Amino acid sequence: MERLVIRGGLPLMGKVRVSGAKNAVLPIIASTLLVENTCQVIGVPRLADVNTIVDLISYMGADISWVEDSLTVTARNIKNCEAPYNCVSKMRASFLIMGPLLARFGQTRISLPGGCNIGTRPIDLHLKGFAAMGAEISKEGGYVNARVKDRLIGARIYLDFPSVGATENIMMAAALADGVTHIENAAEEPEIVDLANFLNAMGGKVSGAGTNVVVIEGVPSLKGARHNVIPDRVEAGTYMVAAAMTGGDIYVENVITEHLKPVIAKIEETGAKVFNGGDGIRVVGSDTIRPVNIQTLPYPGFPTDMQAQMMTLLTRAQGTSMIVETVFENRFMHTEELARMGADIWIDGRVAVIKGVPELYAAKVRATDLRGGASLILAALCAKGETEISLVHHVDRGYEKLEQKLTGLGADIRRIGAND
Ligand code: UD1
Repeated sequence: MERLVIRGGLPLMGKVRVSGAKNAVLPIIASTLLVENTCQVIGVPRLADVNTIVDLISYMGADISWVEDSLTVTARNIKNCEAPYNCVSKMRASFLIMGPLLARFGQTRISLPGGCNIGTRPIDLHLKGFAAMGAEISKEGGYVNARVKDRLIGARIYLDFPSVGATENIMMAAALADGVTHIENAAEEPEIVDLANFLNAMGGKVSGAGTNVVVIEGVPSLKGARHNVIPDRVEAGTYMVAAAMTGGDIYVENVITEHLKPVIAKIEETGAKVFNGGDGIRVVGSDTIRPVNIQTLPYPGFPTDMQAQMMTLLTRAQGTSMIVETVFENRFMHTEELARMGADIWIDGRVAVIKGVPELYAAKVRATDLRGGASLILAALCAKGETEISLVHHVDRGYEKLEQKLTGLGADIRRIGAND
């Protein structure tokens, strides 16, 4: 098991370049299964989650090749439409291949995702959407079977919650359906817009992405396309917090400021200075961190994927802050680890009350999940002494070249292996 060793206390300074968005690229790679022609996706981050979906589609028969950050996929000879348990249990987003496979081949069999450490995360909304489009859904032996006799048919689908994954899965399925699909109460995340742009580049007819009603006019076939992925707003936000947290000065390059509005607003409220300009954002940390209250919400609200990182910043505030997590029911696991570093956090259900402390100190901690792991790295960067973080594989799911980027900003960080 690899671990990260971080000696804290250094203000992070300099420039860091954000990679392509993990959450945009996963559905885009899944949607290459909609066509037999070649697709090229540019700006793909080399992350464990990307490897998981690439391995899955290549196991199904897609041809894959990489040149630096450009991924080429040709899904001409798909020989099986099944996603086994080991893929889906490793990464829930593997379920995103259901829509494209059902639409193109009329059948698919995918392992149920099972439990997940940030909550139960059901897939009922995905399945309800496919059923409304005429698919027959059944479950047996831990798998979901979906099949449709001819083509899927366009439908009007209302999502009980604006689920990102369900919106994407239904969009991909509807792209090849017979007729028009309306997804109401759809997720509005920027990654949905990026997927719509890719589907449209393939000859799809998607409108309304980025609003709460997405309309997809199905077409009989799609063609190959080339696409540049949007920058990762969560990675950007994490480096912005790193500047605020360490009293540093970081220029975060390759961002779309619009996507970061709720994060910028909260970081500014803590007292850090934020400057927008060009394709970057500069954050200058302040001597004192002010407490703020945050409620996570679907986009354009404050992103749940930035909750853990902001909580770490607030552990050092001069006063008491409150965070309400409304998107996932169990997303405070990192708080126990932060407490081991001296944080004072009280949890009741979906509410966390964070009483700022003058300083954090080094400890042996473990990453509980992807963003929880990022929050511990941030804590370690400003803690006194040498922190050792285990279960780093969680963090590798979502942060490309993490040590390289942090070292470039002046951090003292190294990775050690199981035998060190
Ligand atoms: C995506 C992101 C993840 C982010 C989350 C919310 C990817 C690969 N992952 O996850 O980083 O934290 O959006 O912004 O893009 N739900 C149901 N039924 C369903 C589907 C979801 O009840 O069928 C619930 C979930 O349990 C959860 C909430 O809806 O409480 C949000 O989930 P969803 O938006 O679907 O998240 P993901 O797409 O899994």
